Amino acid sequence: MKNILITGGAGFIGSHVVRTFVNKYHNYKIYNLDSLTYAGNLENLKDLENKKNYKFLYGNITNENYVNEIFKKYQFDGVIHLAAESHVDRSILNPLDFAKTNILGTIVLLNAFKLLWSNNWKGKKFYHVSTDEVYGSLGDSGLFNEKTPYDPNSPYSASKASSDHFVRAYGETYGLPYLISNCSNNYGPNQFPEKLIPLFINNIIENKFLPVYGDGNYTRDWLYVKDHAIAIDLIFHKGIKYETYNVGGFNEYKNIDLVKLLCKLMDVKLNQKKGESEKLITYVKDRPGHDLRYAIDANKININLGWSPLVTFEEGLSQTIDWYFDNSEWLKNVTSGEYQNYYKTQYN
Ligand code: NAD
Ligand code: TYD
Repeated sequence: MKNILITGGAGFIGSHVVRTFVNKYHNYKIYNLDSLTYAGNLENLKDLENKKNYKFLYGNITNENYVNEIFKKYQFDGVIHLAAESHVDRSILNPLDFAKTNILGTIVLLNAFKLLWSNNWKGKKFYHVSTDEVYGSLGDSGLFNEKTPYDPNSPYSASKASSDHFVRAYGETYGLPYLISNCSNNYGPNQFPEKLIPLFINNIIENKFLPVYGDGNYTRDWLYVKDHAIAIDLIFHKGIKYETYNVGGFNEYKNIDLVKLLCKLMDVKLNQKKGESEKLITYVKDRPGHDLRYAIDANKININLGWSPLVTFEEGLSQTIDWYFDNSEWLKNVTSGEYQNYYKTQYN
């Protein structure tokens, strides 16, 4: 039995990764370390609560004593590190929180892993899950590949870039066996409704305006979260140590085109007249430092590990909308309280 630590498992992507691992690998005990910030929600993992090979650990990755204690106690053979502050707009409001969790928290985990295994790294892995935003912004053409120089523009991407550098430095300096992946924008069930797709689904349900930043001509490469979880499983098991893998959806959309597609699907699901949801589109002040375009060259993971996305964007969006309709209690719970304050600050 191997002990695997997944950090940030109560969040959006983490919950899909935890579920994949708990259900698939009965020879692993999965420990989910999460401090349950506004983005962490144990409701995301209700179905796993009684599984024998799963344990939730409530704690903060920046708490050195606690982190060292659990590494000593559970002797984690592998770490899949997803815990992070993850939202660009919040990073603009409060960069320090991002530096603390994303940079310091990652170093605390690296130190604990090093303390435990530096005499014998055999069979051990530290997998750091990161973002394509570390590469900065593309112009109208080109793709990010694993050799693209880092050029982060937001406090969020700067903190993730820094954490990637620390992981790589621990590999170079101490021989710590790491893997890194940099993925494009995810969407799907369980995503907190501050990110574009769930925010707009919720706003259409509540008949609230859809705040499109700037002219809406910003481009992102969208990937269904379950396809990302499959990629993480593959990279963790088959990836070559000390290497980076870019993960993307081969699926670029301009924000405004995506929003119009979403509106079209929502009109059908809500049984309302064509064009009703689009009436809510409102162009608002742009995000400062807004990256124009992200797009991933995912050929390395495709050729070397045989991964490609399974779910088309239309299918994925449709399943995502259904999930939010079927989980209206979840949506209601996460959009009460603190969310309302954030919404007012962000959208006035
Ligand atoms: P999320 O915000 O939904 O979840 C983050 C989780 O980490 C939450 O459960 C939160 O409670 C936990 N957490 C935050 N700070 C913590 C701390 N100090 N100690 C312990 N737990 C803490 O994020 P997500 O969208 O699921 O992203 C997960 C990872 O994937 C992040 O590292 C992010 O940078 C990366 N990523 C996200 C995307 C995306 O589109 N969402 C794309 C590429 C990479
Ligand atoms: P987001 O989901 O925040 O992801 P990221 O900034 O990490 O790419 O935003 C996706 C795109 O949608 C991005 O170009 C910003 C834009 N956006 C809006 O136009 N309005 C919004 O209210 C939000 C949250 C995002």
